[in-house]
Amino acid sequence: MAKDTFYITTPIYYPSDKLHIGHAYTTVAADTMARYKTMQGFDTMFLTGSDEHGQKIERKAAAAGKEPKEYVDEIVATFKALWQRLGIDYDYFIRTTEPRHEKVVQEIFKKIYDKGDIYKGKYEGWYCTPCESFWTERQLAEDKTCPDCGRQVEWVEEESYFFKLSKYADRLLEHIKNNPDFIQPESRRNEMINFIEQGLDDLSVSRTTFDWGIPVTIDDNHVIYVWFDALSNYITAIGYLTDEENFNHYWPADIHLVGKDILRFHTIIWPIILMALDLPLPKKVFGHGWLLTKTGKMSKSKGNVVDPNILIDDFGVDPIRYYLLREVAFGTDGTYSTEALIQRINSDLANDLGNLLNRTISMVEQYFDGVIPEAGQAEDVDDDLKNFASKTIKLVEENMEKLRFTVALEELWNYIRRANKYIDQTTPWILARDEDKKDRLGTVLYNLLESLRIIAGLLKPYLIETPYKIGRQMGVEELIRKTSWDDLKEWGVLPAGTRVNKGEPIFPRIDLEKYFEGVEDKVRDEKIFKEDTSNHTAAEAKKAKAEAKNEEKDLVSFEEFTKLDLRVAEVLEAERIEGSNKLLKLQVDLGEEQRQLVAGIAKHYQADELVGKKIIMVANLEPATIFGVKSNGMILAASNEEGDLTLTTVEKDISNGSKVK
Ligand code: ME8
Ligand code: MG
Repeated sequence: MAKDTFYITTPIYYPSDKLHIGHAYTTVAADTMARYKTMQGFDTMFLTGSDEHGQKIERKAAAAGKEPKEYVDEIVATFKALWQRLGIDYDYFIRTTEPRHEKVVQEIFKKIYDKGDIYKGKYEGWYCTPCESFWTERQLAEDKTCPDCGRQVEWVEEESYFFKLSKYADRLLEHIKNNPDFIQPESRRNEMINFIEQGLDDLSVSRTTFDWGIPVTIDDNHVIYVWFDALSNYITAIGYLTDEENFNHYWPADIHLVGKDILRFHTIIWPIILMALDLPLPKKVFGHGWLLTKTGKMSKSKGNVVDPNILIDDFGVDPIRYYLLREVAFGTDGTYSTEALIQRINSDLANDLGNLLNRTISMVEQYFDGVIPEAGQAEDVDDDLKNFASKTIKLVEENMEKLRFTVALEELWNYIRRANKYIDQTTPWILARDEDKKDRLGTVLYNLLESLRIIAGLLKPYLIETPYKIGRQMGVEELIRKTSWDDLKEWGVLPAGTRVNKGEPIFPRIDLEKYFEGVEDKVRDEKIFKEDTSNHTAAEAKKAKAEAKNEEKDLVSFEEFTKLDLRVAEVLEAERIEGSNKLLKLQVDLGEEQRQLVAGIAKHYQADELVGKKIIMVANLEPATIFGVKSNGMILAASNEEGDLTLTTVEKDISNGSKVK
């Protein structure tokens, strides 16, 4: 009999920034779900990938002095390296620059055009490049900013192809209302219903003002709108129009996992594309919340990005996966904190789970020379433990179906604690004093080991090393590897006579104070943010090594040096930027002009003490917007690894605007 299929996707990420734990959050959740379904015997398809076209990428590549493809290739390599470290076992990694995807997106566009649902018109309106989103005047936030990200939007006027969203609005609304599971969680579903009920405008689905996109075949001045291109990945990746057998096997998807910020694209534009293609809709779109930091949503411009690579270096992969799945209820927003992570490691992993294993294996060594004893007659307390196991498995299943990872793990940990309590109830150390109680002692230890077999099996979707570390200490690593979900429902599978191997504690405790030694209280989480630029991926490490070897390549010619326009400037005004503890906004006098710039020195200088200082600045730096504030230049400062920082200034007074060379 053919197995049931289970198809799950993550969003495909923009290769414009480094991935942070917010991205890892979605991807670990999808991986966990895929592992769980595979263990249950489903024929699972787990898709992730990268979203590589669009103006944002084109601009970032240009700023880095690279061709877009070269630029994305490098970043995509870092994505794959991170997913590997995190144990993300995807079945396919789609890149929207791969030829098959590009070709099928063109065919999708053409099909919908031929049907009459895409037509040519003129677009006039506001566009947010970072979000790649169109907005109407009335949707804009204050000062013509994007209602999603708060950054400045651009006025765009161009010829464009439009997609008839309006035609499908009623059908979509009906589908959402008739299928309560289609959009989850419930609160987000209501939000989407309200949004659609206000009416849908036709959507501009082509652009003419840049080139980095998939060309419209019928009109090669146009490239296809990046969201139209990106959303299609969910069907191009499994063979739509190229491998119909595989496509029909997996489609419709069981779950699209997405962050709440992109739920609208997935519950309006995407279903309507599918309706226009006469394809069935995905069974579920689940919009999860954000992982925030104490200083708000992680973003590169705020400098509060938590790099998962650093966390893995410091704590190992399983504690990170555990923390992401356990700490924040999937669906709501939550705040990342390193203290909370360390707390979880110490209490749940080292204490509850680590001790259960450690105590049990020690007793098998001490009382049975390291050989797993037979189980004898069961007493009430044994039946109770056994029943708790089957109840736990049911509860884990129920919660996994609803993507409640947090609750599923809570239930699992209740069982771990129940097993610890069983030790206290049965007092093996007292049984061991009496040779007549040897059989009873054997039964108790067998039950503990069998509980650990079930616990290791239950952990397999969530953690990638721990189940096998437990298995190794119990001498049954292979058995744990082969354990299916159904195998957990039987009691007494563990073979007596197996030799255990006591090893190191599987989770060493972390000394919180030591970990943060020398780090001020208020910047604790930023210990991790600050290290964001270190080399972590193989590709980056290799590059750094090559650079180190070829130091002469790092020399700059005098001509290159003269490209920098360094000037003396006087600080006229300085103020803190609200919401940031690092940034100051400065107005400076450059002799012939005044400039505004943003400097990350608020931890070292009070705003007032800067006024009147003569500093040195790079006057021809590309303008940037930092924390919503325009910055036109950069001031120079010296800093060291201890975190000291001092501004560079001039030794004698000299007129503002003097050139430094
Ligand atoms: O939006 N916490 O890509 P993207 C939780 N290419 N999730 C977070 C997060 C945080 N702090 N920050 C980001 C795109 N995310 C498009 C998707 S799909 C056809 C195209 C999540 O690289 C965010 O909610 O900006 C979203 O699901 C994903 O990362 C967006 O990544
Ligand atoms: Mg985004």
